[in-house]
Amino acid sequence: MKKIRFGVIGCGSIANEYHLPALQRVENAQLVWACDLIEERAQKAKEDFGFEKYTLDYHDIFKDESIDAVCIFTKIEMHATLCIEAAAAGKHIFSQKPFAYNIEEGRKIIRAVEAAGVRLTPSFMHSYMDGSIAARKIVEEGIIGEVRHIRMRNATKNPFDTAPSYGGCMMDIGCHGMDLIHTVSGADIEEVFALHLSPRDDTPRQAFGEKADLNGVENTAILNYRLSNGATVFHEIFWTQVAQTNRFEMEIYGTKGVVYLYNPHRSDIVYYGWNLDGHPRKDIHWQAAPVEENFFGYIHHKTFVDDLLNGTYNSKTARDAFVPLQVVEAARRSFETGRIEHVLGI
Ligand SMILES: NC(=O)c1ccc[n+]([C@@H]2O[C@H](COP(=O)([O-])OP(=O)(O)OC[C@H]3O[C@@H](n4cnc5c(N)ncnc54)[C@H](O)[C@@H]3O)[C@@H](O)[C@H]2O)c1
Repeated sequence: MKKIRFGVIGCGSIANEYHLPALQRVENAQLVWACDLIEERAQKAKEDFGFEKYTLDYHDIFKDESIDAVCIFTKIEMHATLCIEAAAAGKHIFSQKPFAYNIEEGRKIIRAVEAAGVRLTPSFMHSYMDGSIAARKIVEEGIIGEVRHIRMRNATKNPFDTAPSYGGCMMDIGCHGMDLIHTVSGADIEEVFALHLSPRDDTPRQAFGEKADLNGVENTAILNYRLSNGATVFHEIFWTQVAQTNRFEMEIYGTKGVVYLYNPHRSDIVYYGWNLDGHPRKDIHWQAAPVEENFFGYIHHKTFVDDLLNGTYNSKTARDAFVPLQVVEAARRSFETGRIEHVLGI
């Protein structure tokens, strides 16, 4: 059985909480190198997930000709460097978001990946969750009719450090919603109106329970989109989420029903439909299967491994990774001009 041989760069929080337990379960994935600047993290990952070896220097992975693919689970400041070097070394790439700080950096990554002929998939985990897959199927099958409006909310606590500011809240967490809107509706974001970007006031952000002082960077954004299918979207993006409030919500309003999708990895999804007379159709109230039937993140990682083995294209691509950069750029333009702005081409 052919296996995809992986090197993993960055064995911190998201690697341990999400990626490595899932990747370890993918039958055709071989965990070869664990790499972190902090030795005990690399060593612990090797022990916990069965890597063959560990290193503190990611060049060891790029030099190893037996390695097919690298996972980049460092913070944003290293993403471009590592993606470009990985592509030059002929390695396929599974990279955490945000993909890049800005359009220029994103373009450099895309050029490097396309010139090398390697795959790059961004870690838009929400689009692979069973609730999201179920929502997409409901929309595709026309069960809620034509999609007319979407309300999307992405909220989280502010990042634990300034790093520097993860490219702002729109790139940090809004990118998940921007990708999911496309995944579920099948439509592209074409126009953006920025109703609101961060307050940029002088109040220390710690006053709001935030750990880092993020004055002068985008903490909150409320964006209004028009999609290529004519539907509209309100997208709320906040770095000010506090415990017990909803981090994630998606409501998809169609001409015949509504899908509510909450915390998709816990499969909290329901949809309601109505007859033409406006009365509810009880027969299509539905909930996704419990996620325990499929280990959290398994589908996501298996899709990438299968793509590499079989030459299929079911994973998100480098071009998909670029879309949030384009949307954020349009949002910033809109905020300056006070007008609706078009999302520009690559
Ligand atoms: N839901 C999500 O998709 C989600 C959730 C959390 C974090 N993230 C993203 O994941 C990325 C990592 O976040 P995290 O919270 O795991 O960070 P983290 O700081 O916990 O982990 C990053 C690790 O990378 C290591 N590292 C940094 N530079 C390195 C280098 N040159 N070589 C080898 N190792 C290096 C660090 O030592 C650290 O252990 C960020 O881009 C973040 O935005 C995504």
